[in-house]
Amino acid sequence: MSAPKIRLEAVSKSFDASVVVEKLSLDVRDGEFLAIVGPSGCGKTTVLNMLAGLEKPSSGAMTLNGRPIEGPGAERGVMFQDYALFPWRTVRGNVEFGLVYGPAGQALSPAQRAERVERTIEMVGLKGSQDKYPHQLSGGMRQRVALARLMASEPEILLMDEPLAALDAQTRVILQDELLRIWGQDRPASERRTVVFITHAIDEAVFLADRVAVLSSHPGRLKQIVDIDLPRPRGDETRRSGAFARLSQSIWELIREEAYRATMN
Ligand SMILES: Nc1ncnc2c1ncn2[C@@H]1O[C@H](COP(=O)(O)OP(=O)(O)OP(=O)(O)O)[C@@H](O)[C@H]1O
Ligand SMILES: [Mg+2]
Repeated sequence: MSAPKIRLEAVSKSFDASVVVEKLSLDVRDGEFLAIVGPSGCGKTTVLNMLAGLEKPSSGAMTLNGRPIEGPGAERGVMFQDYALFPWRTVRGNVEFGLVYGPAGQALSPAQRAERVERTIEMVGLKGSQDKYPHQLSGGMRQRVALARLMASEPEILLMDEPLAALDAQTRVILQDELLRIWGQDRPASERRTVVFITHAIDEAVFLADRVAVLSSHPGRLKQIVDIDLPRPRGDETRRSGAFARLSQSIWELIREEAYRATMN
């Protein structure tokens, strides 16, 4: 098997005296869609920030293509939990930013860029809102802008922190399908991007991912990795299948105890 794209070896992270992530060891394979689930506060965002190069582990090692992760890089596109839009830019301006500064945009002419920006905005269902500013949008709309900004840049590695959480159920399903298309579910495994996708929603993790990493809380540790052997391409048929329901149920049982513990704390 090929070397992992991303490797975490006994990664721990503390803030002041409190251990948030403890001895997390995890490989993300090249072209893999990996989902991370776990109760609120278990350290998911902290893990993603470390992968993005925005936080340093307190101990342990993190590598990308065999080299230590020492900071952010253009090959990794990040979508933050709080959207992190530029308030002074319009919807179009925010999406354009992802393209101009991402690896994909460099090769395009201005006309091609403009075309891709419009297409991406349309894809996330924001046609007609191109000239609005973030403060004029609902939470769900802001989340779509952040998604469009990330997708426009087409990075090799997508690091996503609950990217669909604020969306209504219908839009969410549409964007799950769209995300799988962008990831490359219709292409051979060797041509797929690598995705690390954080979510609270177990059914979403099961629908999207090749593997689901379940974290426990206080501190965040790896509880189990579950292989999702549902066939691809996936779609509505997958969502209705018995295998899908069984996998979702087994992951729910894994984190139920953790979720209760986290709620009671
Ligand atoms: N910069 C920081 N300084 C101090 N404590 C922090 C910092 N960032 C995170 N923490 C703490 O680390 C723990 C894990 O936070 P994190 O945001 O990674 O959790 P999470 O799993 O993403 O939660 P949620 O599901 O609610 O988004 C929390 O207890 C949080 O208060
Ligand atoms: Mg979080």
